Amino acid sequence: MRLYRAKDYEDMSRKAANIISAQVIMKPDCVLGLATGSTPIGTYKQLIEWYEKGDLDFSEVTTVNLDEYKGLTKDNDQSYYYFMHDNLFNHVNLQKGRSFLPDGTEPDSEKACRDYNAVIRQAGGIDLQLLGLGNNGHIGFNEPADHFPQETHCVDLTPSTIEANKRFFAKAEDVPRQAYTMGIGTIMSAKKVLLVVSGEGKAKILRDALYGPVTPEVPASILQFHKDLCVVADEAALSEMP
Ligand code: GLP
Repeated sequence: MRLYRAKDYEDMSRKAANIISAQVIMKPDCVLGLATGSTPIGTYKQLIEWYEKGDLDFSEVTTVNLDEYKGLTKDNDQSYYYFMHDNLFNHVNLQKGRSFLPDGTEPDSEKACRDYNAVIRQAGGIDLQLLGLGNNGHIGFNEPADHFPQETHCVDLTPSTIEANKRFFAKAEDVPRQAYTMGIGTIMSAKKVLLVVSGEGKAKILRDALYGPVTPEVPASILQFHKDLCVVADEAALSEMP
């Protein structure tokens, strides 16, 4: 594991964007695994800025996102489809048809997951997977469980995740109860994993993920076994490190 210590959120975002840029420059037709949540927003902003300056070209890049709420339409401003267009896709030269998310509008969970596994397989696997860290240690929407799910599956969101994510919705009842998420097996098969973490609120779970026992109770702990893991975290998030 390589740990990059950032001063604050801006610094974390710039360092993470640098790592993603290096990937895109070294392999212009790479497959980027992307993430939602508030943590990567600054990273996306920085990538957009460098794209606008002419330093980055996404024309050959394919993207696959980690997850999507089940039941939200694409035009719902809380869907991850909407989030990704708003925060990145609409602002860079990714080609239409080369950015993928699980289909939250597909009511048949088995079909939605099967189709998404096929998309990832067809893309040839993931070169770099960007991850945020959930308050309960989830990655994507892989919630604490008694095993590490392999491929895309439908999850019941835990009360703590619904609580954490309700800030984006008008009220807690509006948060979907289920989501489709890439599995831990798929995330672990990414050639490189980039975990971004910011803020004191994540300090304890980051310590547990990186230095605690590897257990599906803390899904991110599996990353300790990844052969090319980069963690970019700010001082506040690193305040509980051993
Ligand atoms: C959601 C997403 C995760 C993300 C997590 C943390 O639950 N499914 O991929 O990592 O939120 O979000 P934040 O970065 O806002 O703390």
